[in-house]
Amino acid sequence: MKKYSYDIEKYNFVLEVKNLFEVKTLSNIHKEWEKAISYDVLDNAEKDQDTIYHRHFYDNIEFTRWYSLYNSFIKEKIQPLIGEDILYQKIPTFRVHLPFNLSVAEFHRDRDYSHSKYEKNIYLPLTKAFGNNTIWAETKHGMEDFRSLEANIGEIWLWDGANLLHGNKINDTGQSRVSVDFRILPVSKYENNNNKSITNKTKMIIGEYWQNL
Ligand SMILES: [Fe+2]
Repeated sequence: MKKYSYDIEKYNFVLEVKNLFEVKTLSNIHKEWEKAISYDVLDNAEKDQDTIYHRHFYDNIEFTRWYSLYNSFIKEKIQPLIGEDILYQKIPTFRVHLPFNLSVAEFHRDRDYSHSKYEKNIYLPLTKAFGNNTIWAETKHGMEDFRSLEANIGEIWLWDGANLLHGNKINDTGQSRVSVDFRILPVSKYENNNNKSITNKTKMIIGEYWQNL
């Protein structure tokens, strides 16, 4: 796993999401968003993308500058890191890790959920990600030596979520973590199959889950 930085003025993802929720500070989304609610601790991996926060993001993000930034970011920043032709997740996964809650329901390896072992994950926090509000992941396969993926705004982690065990802890930081993450797959490793993503049942094929550069 490796951390990289990017130009936050050029790729101002934070601004788009702040405007979308009409909040000043995304880490206070649980207080500032007019529709903010708290909910029981997430306990179902098929439902952890189904909160009011997620519906607001997925229903409205296409009307912002998000996708023009996102698509350029992949071309200009991510593809060069990988160094070969890639597919990328067409709709990134939105996460909100509220205080006293989780953003993913269970520890897992993405390959357990119909993902290819050749995928790589990009974790892009839109708030400071630290302590128990961020992802905890083992550093080597099977080691279970969990560490937190800490990042400031403007930093991303490129890491192997397909094969490394990872999950969340109850957020005791008092601040919400808002982030997106997305996966890339070398074109050379793409297989047309009948797998579907666990949370939104998108078929893992080009044009649905995957997008060509
Ligand atoms: Fe995961």
